[in-house]
Amino acid sequence: MIDRRDPPPIGRVVATEQKPATPHQFHFWTANETTIGIGAIVRVEEQPGNPKGLPNGRGKGETGKVVYGVVTDGFAYSDLATPLHDVVGAEGDPARAAESPTVRQEIRLWTAAVLRQKPEEPLQPVPLGQVHVASDVDVAQALRMDTYLGGAEPTAIPVGLYTSGTLEAPVYLDADFLLGPEAAHLNISGVSGLATKTSAAEFLLGSIFQHFPTHKGRIAAVCFNVKGPDLCFLDQPGALEDEDRRRYERLAVRAQPFERVRYYAPFKADGVNLNTLRTHPDLVGDVEPLVWGLREVLDYAEVLLNRDDIDAKADAFIDFLSDRVVDKDFDDGFGGAHRVVTFADLERLFRSIFDGLELGGGRGDTWRTHHIATIRKVRNRLSNISTRAKGLVTDDGPSNDLPWGRFEDRAVYVVDVANVDPLGQDLVFARVVSKLREHLERRDLGVDAVVVFVDELNKYAPADGPETYVKKMLLDISERGRYLGLVLFGAEQFRSQVHRRVVGNAGTIMFGRMDSDELATPGYQVLSPATKIKLATLPIGELMVRHPHFTQPIFVRFPRPAVLRGRDGVERFPPAADLPFEDAVVRQLVKLDRRVRPNLVKDLIADRREEDVRRALAYTRQTRPQDAFAHFKKQLGGRVAAVPAAARETVAPLNPISDDPY
Ligand SMILES: Nc1ncnc2c1ncn2[C@@H]1O[C@H](COP(=O)(O)OP(=O)(O)OP(=O)(O)O)[C@@H](O)[C@H]1O
Ligand SMILES: [Mg+2]
Repeated sequence: MIDRRDPPPIGRVVATEQKPATPHQFHFWTANETTIGIGAIVRVEEQPGNPKGLPNGRGKGETGKVVYGVVTDGFAYSDLATPLHDVVGAEGDPARAAESPTVRQEIRLWTAAVLRQKPEEPLQPVPLGQVHVASDVDVAQALRMDTYLGGAEPTAIPVGLYTSGTLEAPVYLDADFLLGPEAAHLNISGVSGLATKTSAAEFLLGSIFQHFPTHKGRIAAVCFNVKGPDLCFLDQPGALEDEDRRRYERLAVRAQPFERVRYYAPFKADGVNLNTLRTHPDLVGDVEPLVWGLREVLDYAEVLLNRDDIDAKADAFIDFLSDRVVDKDFDDGFGGAHRVVTFADLERLFRSIFDGLELGGGRGDTWRTHHIATIRKVRNRLSNISTRAKGLVTDDGPSNDLPWGRFEDRAVYVVDVANVDPLGQDLVFARVVSKLREHLERRDLGVDAVVVFVDELNKYAPADGPETYVKKMLLDISERGRYLGLVLFGAEQFRSQVHRRVVGNAGTIMFGRMDSDELATPGYQVLSPATKIKLATLPIGELMVRHPHFTQPIFVRFPRPAVLRGRDGVERFPPAADLPFEDAVVRQLVKLDRRVRPNLVKDLIADRREEDVRRALAYTRQTRPQDAFAHFKKQLGGRVAAVPAAARETVAPLNPISDDPY
């Protein structure tokens, strides 16, 4: 409901030679008792035909200028020329100062920055008019929200409540400027625990899902969980207070957890237990394993070559493997035929190359124009990734990935990499972001826009430090994503420590409680000292927002996100202990088919090699057959436990269900 009452003025603009009013700033005085404070929005009215501003000039003038401003500083002083006069007047005794017969005249003087002038042209100094507390309508005008709140195709996304005294007005962001194409990206910073960065991102995402305008199409989010259980319970309701509910209502956002959340986590090194904190038996059922094979890794092999490694020769060899070898019938030139699908197949090829070169004696150090040193280097890097990110990169059967091409509208895809080795994280970021980009470019992802949420940007896109692949990807989204509908929501404790081009490209910026040392860094020079103090003492749940439509930063309060906090989640749903191998296999089969009988599975896999079991399981997962047990049994094939590893090549290979499992 919009409040249209027009209360009496609370102050008056003053301008002196020392403190003149300008087109962008003005000063006004108020009574000593006032609801005005730093961050308050006010309306100044020029009084037409009453230029001296005498009484009776009240009311909105038809032709008068209206100026909206936000208070950035405040001063109080009396008519004393120097403090000495007060000391003398009280005869040096502070207790007697209060008994002073004359009450000193005291004033409250405020400085405000102009948010908007109406009419906008000609741009002139702020008139010496009356100052009013802003109403709902004024707040919408002051922040230029009127342009996107109404009309045939509104694009307003509620972000929080502007609050001043008893007034409370919803503040909206413009979807065109938050999610593209006009501007895009969001950056949130502030100290740990008090700034509510992760919470703010969760709340805003919920608000976006409910208010993203239909004419802009379908939207989804990919959230990288990088810290403990932070984003593991987005589908579970969290504890809210009445005040939170009231704010939800005022903002017209339903207080509910996300309806469609899909979780992805790699396995642990054993290849069967998931590497996530969402392993409570009631919840683990909807965590999908993230499993990548040789093909997926080779496509992003440059991730594996660190900076000092950048080497055209290694690149060329990887391209050769990728284009000519993998998934093809290939002759090694020493009489061996290969079909390389897995890391194990590739290792066999490497062995035959090395053996062939050795036996060949004088045939030199090159194979198919690639030097043996390059081949060794690439082999080391590839085996390094399959060891360091063992549960992610598999040797056993087909991959399991995000649903490329089938992204659902208003769905959140949580990719849990909190416990993954940094090299594995690099690979996950690189592949997921590149795939998003690729599909959005071809417009076949299933949605039109994707918000990528990355917490702890300090770590992933630091201002200095090595050029990692993750950093490159984050820069790429920041600089080119908005044309594609690829939007980065990032959060960090210290904005000054994040790469300039990542924070600089964020159209919308939020600050929670800030550290004073951080506020002393050059990036915050534009803020007034009073605003900095407010930021350094900001209560939990309040944020300062900068958005392209707002000429000045605005303070808003938002309700707790309606989802279960990570910390509470692990208490309510304690993660299950890792299951022994057989039980973990049983659990995964039961997940595919409830009729699976645990004991039959255990009997079947007793004495079988773990890699064979994992591979059979992976194919079963890929096929999703009606009868999971029968399929699994068939995949596992005859008993091969007695076959020594060296003779593996002679064992009949497993029968992949599809021709091309990748
Ligand atoms: N709108 C809110 N009102 C009141 N409390 C809130 C609000 N939002 C979040 N909180 C509380 O503030 C605390 C910190 O929130 P959050 O974890 O989001 O902070 P953070 O800035 O992400 O911290 P960190 O840097 O440690 O990740 C949580 O306990 C949360 O419940
Ligand atoms: Mg956080």
